[in-house]
Amino acid sequence: MKKLAAILSSFMMVTMLAACGSEAGTEEKANGSATGSGGDEKKTIRVVTDAAYAPFEYLEGDKIVGFDVNFLNAAAKEAGYDVKLEHVGWDPLFVELKSKRAAAGISAITIDEERKQTYDFSSPYFLSINKILVPEGSDIKSADDLKGKVVAVQSGTTGQAAVEKLLGKNHKDIKKFENNNLAIMELINKGADAVVADNAVVEEYAKNNPKQKLKVVEDSDTFDAEFYGIMFPKGSELKADFDKAIAEILDNGTYEKIYKERFGTSPDIEKLKQAK
Ligand code: ARG
Repeated sequence: MKKLAAILSSFMMVTMLAACGSEAGTEEKANGSATGSGGDEKKTIRVVTDAAYAPFEYLEGDKIVGFDVNFLNAAAKEAGYDVKLEHVGWDPLFVELKSKRAAAGISAITIDEERKQTYDFSSPYFLSINKILVPEGSDIKSADDLKGKVVAVQSGTTGQAAVEKLLGKNHKDIKKFENNNLAIMELINKGADAVVADNAVVEEYAKNNPKQKLKVVEDSDTFDAEFYGIMFPKGSELKADFDKAIAEILDNGTYEKIYKERFGTSPDIEKLKQAK
């Protein structure tokens, strides 16, 4: 009887621990522990995103899709990880990584010096630049023309930083939104004269919503080229694995295939490699 009780209680312990594991899950899994779900050695990592940034990440029903998702899956597969991708929003993404509740973030995140103080980045996987989204009849022809205009941006992005550089930090004419779709809505509702955000995002929006009669203004003299990276908590062991995997998929045609499928053109792979 005693024996049975002992067996039972140790069984219960295991079940309880397992339950804890999958609930708090993130920590363990975030650091890449085995899933324990079967014979394979694959580890599941929790990756967070702000899925309101088409074509990079957006929701189709409750499914997160987009270029970043395809890229992440390909890189993770190459690196030998399973991914659990979760839409948490832009600001929370940074909090999740800082507290190491998530193992990685992918969200068209620009690799910049300030973020590098707090986080690690994979090698670059996408070249981007800020552009200006305006109504078709707008007199805004360059970044300089934004002075004196109301500009909507997603809060905490390089778009906000670029506009602050032009208008001044905390300028009253800069309207900041939690996600980029809200910034675009503000433009459509005539609460702003322009939106500044990543080129592929504003271009996709203008193209897919012809009824809104919007156009995109570029100014590569004013706006800097930017590179996206997968973001990790500082010191993460995943960085080395993902860098290796990214190098591999850049070389073996997988990246090019994913890129072409989404954008219909060929990527400048050499540029990405040189940016390291
Ligand atoms: N590339 C810009 C940045 O890193 C904007 C990214 C916004 N991404 C998003 N999923 N909302 O600041």
